[in-house]
Amino acid sequence: MNKQVLTGIKPTGRIHLGNYIGAIKPALQLAEKQSCDTAYFVADYHGLTKIHDKQEMKELSYGVAAAWLALGLNPDRAIFYRQSDVPEIFELSWILACYAPKGLMNRAHAYKSLVEENKESGKEVDAGVNMGLFTYPILMAADILLFQTEIVPVGKDQIQHVEIARDIAENFNKQYGEIFVIPEYVIQEETAVLPGLDGRKMSKSYNNTIPLFEEPKKLQKLINKIKTDSSPPEEPKDPDSSVIFALYKEFATSGQIKEMRRRFQAGIGWGEAKKELFQVMNSFVEEPRNRYNELMSNPEDIDFILDKGAERARNKILPFMREIKENIGLYH
Ligand code: TRP
Repeated sequence: MNKQVLTGIKPTGRIHLGNYIGAIKPALQLAEKQSCDTAYFVADYHGLTKIHDKQEMKELSYGVAAAWLALGLNPDRAIFYRQSDVPEIFELSWILACYAPKGLMNRAHAYKSLVEENKESGKEVDAGVNMGLFTYPILMAADILLFQTEIVPVGKDQIQHVEIARDIAENFNKQYGEIFVIPEYVIQEETAVLPGLDGRKMSKSYNNTIPLFEEPKKLQKLINKIKTDSSPPEEPKDPDSSVIFALYKEFATSGQIKEMRRRFQAGIGWGEAKKELFQVMNSFVEEPRNRYNELMSNPEDIDFILDKGAERARNKILPFMREIKENIGLYH
């Protein structure tokens, strides 16, 4: 039996290096394996917890879809869809909500950190928290459990969400028998947390990202902004604690990596190192960037692919949705 793999990306910002290295790249590798069935999607309803501007929602959603396709996702193999085109996910989300202890949601990181921020700035604890954000992990559990997912490739920040999906599934199974498959996450150990421009984790919320499909000039500028210390060029540098080297490794060949390691240890100027980083990154991204731009100017092509994907997704999950409902006593 093939392993079911599933992951989603929410459209709350432009696809950046962290998304690519932490989620898309490993997911694409799994999609190539004969032993895996893959389902990848644009988590637009998760995006809605934050994005309330119509045009922005459209553009960001297309952006996520175009990025997957531009980077080589084959939609004939993977089931590739928009979350909002599969309404059964939301039916299941309600069902699961009835098995999700409220306390579990109180402990979810995204919600908890907002509450902490509010407390620190003297605001009301739940200021700016909508119920979509509060119940975010339940919708994510529905995404995962509806596809009987075994493996969820995610960034480190999503581990807790997968654990919550497991908890909810176990609660349900305790009552009705082994209905849900208990999912597991996989993370890219080496690059589990990619540093951003300022050295903190690369994240939309820190505004320290490098958008993957940035035009060359801007890309160069962003790379120049990466924080470095003031050590002089000739001073030997530790490659393993350098953001520049960490990023370089993602795009260079093993020969190039070896050589760069040597140059770091011998002493390399930061300006020079940044130039080298730009070169490997830009030559990797050139082709996908052209495909991305082409797709973004033909959104009807993206719609066509996503519509077909949603149809396949629904065909796949409908029998299981019926089984779930039967098990809770909704059909006779
Ligand atoms: N929460 C994920 C993120 O912020 C996106 C997501 C939604 C997801 N549903 C999912 C990831 C299901 C994996 C599986 O990146």
